[in-house]
Amino acid sequence: MKSRILLLFLICFSLTPQASSQDTCGRPLVDEAVYRPFQNEFAVGESVAYSCRTGHQLQSGHASLNRICQADLTWSSVEFVCERQSCGFPDTPSNGHIVGDTYTFGNTIEYFCNTGFELSTGASSVRSNCVPVVGSDPPTVEWSVATAPTCSRVPCPNPPNIANGRFEDSGVAYEYGARIEYFCDNGFKSNEASPIHRTCDENGTWGDPPQCLVDYDCDFENFRQPTCGYSNTRWSREFRRDGLSGRSYVLHRSSDDATLTSAALTIEPPGACLSFYYRGTLGGTRLEVSQTTPGTSDTSLSGGISESDWQEAKIDLTPSNNVEFNVKVSGDPADVEIDDLTLNLSPCVPCPNPPNIANGRFEDSGVAYEYGARIEYFCDNGFKSNEASPIHRTCDENGTWGDPPQCLEPFPMTTAPPSVQTSTTRRMSTTTTMTTVQPTGAVPTTTAPPSVSTTFASIQLTVDGRRVVEPKVILPKSGNEASTEDTNTLAPPTGRPLSVPAIVGIAVGAVAVVLILSFIVYFCHAKKKGIPGVPMSL
Ligand SMILES: *[C@@H]1O[C@H](CO)[C@@H](O)[C@H](O)[C@H]1NC(C)=O
Ligand SMILES: *[C@@H]1O[C@H](CO)[C@@H](O)[C@H](O)[C@H]1NC(C)=O
Repeated sequence: MKSRILLLFLICFSLTPQASSQDTCGRPLVDEAVYRPFQNEFAVGESVAYSCRTGHQLQSGHASLNRICQADLTWSSVEFVCERQSCGFPDTPSNGHIVGDTYTFGNTIEYFCNTGFELSTGASSVRSNCVPVVGSDPPTVEWSVATAPTCSRVPCPNPPNIANGRFEDSGVAYEYGARIEYFCDNGFKSNEASPIHRTCDENGTWGDPPQCLVDYDCDFENFRQPTCGYSNTRWSREFRRDGLSGRSYVLHRSSDDATLTSAALTIEPPGACLSFYYRGTLGGTRLEVSQTTPGTSDTSLSGGISESDWQEAKIDLTPSNNVEFNVKVSGDPADVEIDDLTLNLSPCVPCPNPPNIANGRFEDSGVAYEYGARIEYFCDNGFKSNEASPIHRTCDENGTWGDPPQCLEPFPMTTAPPSVQTSTTRRMSTTTTMTTVQPTGAVPTTTAPPSVSTTFASIQLTVDGRRVVEPKVILPKSGNEASTEDTNTLAPPTGRPLSVPAIVGIAVGAVAVVLILSFIVYFCHAKKKGIPGVPMSL
């Protein structure tokens, strides 16, 4: 009975399927390859055949595609490699470039356009993938974008028109790289150096357009635009021989009223100074300069002027928008010439005489106290300024010199010997008398040599009959030295300081006197007491 049960157990055991891993080969996996037949276990002696996966191919020189499950339950050695197939070098775009340098199956490259070029789609780039060719035999791969996209030049709109100027193009299309040149109309100039170019940039824009600004400074000797930005009524341009510089081309007023009218301009605070030179021949002729906005001011030329002497006129223009100024000659027919019209964008208002300071003085270079004029202050001997030297003051745009400098004593009074103190303190006042034109008269009262004084004229700037600018010095253009040189005189020093050698001499003398006196006293004392070694009598 017992043996039967055991036998049954053994039979049952032997019929049960045995775990067979001990006598089969496992899956023969190889990178990027598939094997046939596809199963998980192979008996000894079974073989598999490989083929490369999609997008891959057998590397050259590797022929064996079979392996066999060997008796030791290993696969025969691998003799092949499946490598990625290549799509080849992608199509090259013109005016574009490729980002990405791996051209095999599964990789992606990106097409971009170069600067200034763009895709017709408006996209910034195009991607191309290396993909299998569907249905190909043998299997191959290709770029999903076979032909490189087209990059075309970025177009620009028409260039902007500008006021008082124009542009010229070379007839090419307005696209990236196209260049146009701007020109200002006669009487206007750009703040940019010539030639004024604009180029269609990579973003399809021309950049900020140039500005053509009024050319206020008239060079009548310029052949191309002899009247600059001024409209010109009844002035004619003539060649004249200029006694000073050889020759000059001027505007010559012949008979009727003649007017030069400026283009409209904006004068910012604190104002502008219009200056020019003029000369004429007759007495009853008026020269007016008027500012049409906001009010009218004019300057009158009164009295005869010598043809050979150029006079300078300076007129303040008040801040305003749309200012036009006119230079007009009326009255008796005359030859009146105008030259070197200049507009400075700062007032010509002169500064008053610089303030005198205690214990110091100023010196100027003899120029009129106009905007920008610079003077230097000096402290008297024994005094110092808290400012670094040189101590300057400049006539500013408001016609002021600013706070005057201070000359201070460097040491307390007690430390300086009184004798030196008083001898070095001198009063240096500057007696500067500017040459001024009398408000009512035509001839200045001071200092101009007689031959020159006859050529002076007054210019009065009036608004509604009110004089708004004080008459001022009118200097000849050049040559005549009716200058202020002899009017700006420094008062001579009133005292002389003791020199250092003198002081040293006094000190040495004093010491010598003291020594001599000491010796005499000592000698007398010794004689009285009969000190040995000192002779009793001399
Ligand atoms: C074009 O546009 C880009 C982006 O706005 C900017 O960085 C670049 O400066 C522009 N180029 C020019 C020439 O204006
Ligand atoms: C001129 O005057 C204006 C207005 O008072 C002032 O703002 C400006 O600072 C002054 N300029 C100088 C140099 O003092």
